[in-house]
Amino acid sequence: MSKMKSQKLFIKTLGCQMNDTDSVHIAEELKKHKNYNVTTSIEEADLIIINTCSVRDKPVQKLFSELGQFRSKKKKGAKIGVCGCTASHLGKDIIKRAPYIDFVLGARNISKIKDVIDVKGAVEISIDNDESTYDFASSHTSRFKTNINISIGCDKECAYCIVPATRGKEISIPPEMIIEQIKKDVQSGVVEVMLLGQNVNSYGRRFSDKRQKTSFTKLLQEISLIEGLERIRFTSPHPLHMDDEFIEEFSTNPKIAKCIHIPLQSGSSKILKVMKRGYSKEWFLNRVEKIKNKVPNVRITTDIIVGFPSESHEDFLDTIDVMKKVKFDQIYNFKYSPRPNTSALKLEDKAIDDKTSSNRLTQVIELHKTHQVELMHSNIDKIVDVLFENLKANGEVSGFTDNLCQVFVKGSDELLGKIVKVKIISASRTSLKAEVLKL
Ligand code: SAH
Ligand code: SF4
Ligand code: F3S
Repeated sequence: MSKMKSQKLFIKTLGCQMNDTDSVHIAEELKKHKNYNVTTSIEEADLIIINTCSVRDKPVQKLFSELGQFRSKKKKGAKIGVCGCTASHLGKDIIKRAPYIDFVLGARNISKIKDVIDVKGAVEISIDNDESTYDFASSHTSRFKTNINISIGCDKECAYCIVPATRGKEISIPPEMIIEQIKKDVQSGVVEVMLLGQNVNSYGRRFSDKRQKTSFTKLLQEISLIEGLERIRFTSPHPLHMDDEFIEEFSTNPKIAKCIHIPLQSGSSKILKVMKRGYSKEWFLNRVEKIKNKVPNVRITTDIIVGFPSESHEDFLDTIDVMKKVKFDQIYNFKYSPRPNTSALKLEDKAIDDKTSSNRLTQVIELHKTHQVELMHSNIDKIVDVLFENLKANGEVSGFTDNLCQVFVKGSDELLGKIVKVKIISASRTSLKAEVLKL
C-alpha cells in the first residue's frame, strides 16, 4: 500500500467528557486509517470537525454561526464535518441548512468516521449502532491520566433530557476490554483512570453478546487489582443506583478516589417525580449522609436544574435546603431548557418564566460560592496526597488531591507523575496552595 499523504485535522469539542473522549477516538481513527494529524489552526486544516452537544438549546443555536465561521476561514478544498449529539438529533437537516457541510456523524457512529470523510453528503446517525466492542485507541487526558468509556447510551428517560435520543440504549463495554485497555495505559505511565458513562453505576446489565450480568461494584473491584494503577474516578453515577454495596466499595477501596458526582437535579421530591428521576429528596440525603459518615473527607459535586416546569417557590426552597445540608464542593447549575424528543415538552403550560429561573439560578450560584469558600478553607493545615501533573513557567507545579482539589506548590519537574505528601498553607474558592513535605 502506498503511503498516504499526511493531512491536518482541526477538531473542536463541545459538551461533556464523553464527547472529549469521542473526539480523541475520532482523531486517533483518522490518524490510523487516513494519516491525519491534529492541528490547532483552522486555516491550515484539510478537515474541520465540530463535535457537538445538544443538552441545552444555546450550544445548538451557536452551531450554525460557528459553522459559518469555519466556512469563511477554511482553506480551499478543506472539508467540514458535524459530529456528536446535535448531529444525531438534526441529521440531514444540518446539510439542508448548511449545504457546504460535507458529512454528519452521530454520537454513536464514531467508528464510521474513516468512511464518511470521503463521501460528500454522508449522514450516519443511527442510534442503534453498537460500538461497545469496537477497539478504539486509548484516550489520555495527560501523560498520567486516561478516560475510558465503560458503557454507551442511556436507558433512563429523565423528562428533560435529550441524551437517550442522541446516544441510544445503554450497552456495557465488556469488562475484559476495559481491563486490558487500562493495563496498557498503565504500562505507558498512566496512574489515574476516569471511567465514563451516562449512568456508570448501572453498568453490566446488557452487553452486545449473551453473557452473565455483572455490576459496577464488581467492575471497580476488578479494576482496582491492576498493579500500578493508583486512582480510579468515575462519572456520572445515578443516585438511584447507589446501593449499600456500592457505597461500601466506594468507601473502603483505597484506589477509588474520594470525590463523587451525585447529580441532584432538584431537591423537591415532587419535581424529581415529574422529572422521572426515580428517587426522592429523602433518598438523596440518605445516600449522601451514608457516604459522608463513611468517608469524612469526601468531596461531593452535583448538577442542579432550576426552573423546571411547575417548580414552585417551595420546590426551589427544597433545592436550597439540600444545598445547605450537603454543602456541595462543585455545582454545575443550569436553567431548564426545553429539548426536542423529551417528555417534558408536554409540560409547556407549566413553564416557569425566564426572570424567575434566572433569579433562582443566581441564588444557587451565590449560596454555592459561600459553601465553596468555607469548604476550601477547612483544608488549611491538612496533610494530603497530590498527583502532580503540570509545571508552569513561573515554577509552580499543580495537581489534584484524591478528592479532586487543585493544589499548587513551588517545585520542579521531578514532581510530575508522582503522588506526593503536601501541607496546605492557603486556600482560595477554587484552589489550594501547599508545601511539599517529602518526595
Ligand atoms: N447522564 C448524566 C448527565 C448528562 S447531561 C447524569 O444523569 O448525571 C448533564 C447535565 O445536564 C444533567 O445532569 C442535567 O443537569 C443537565 N441537563 C440535561 N438536560 C437539560 C435540559 N433540558 N435543561 C437544562 N439542563 C439539562
Ligand atoms: Fe439524561 Fe437522565 Fe440519562 Fe443522565 S440518566 S443521560 S440525565 S436521561
Ligand atoms: Fe454529552 Fe451533550 Fe451529548 S452532555 S451526551 S455531548 S448532549
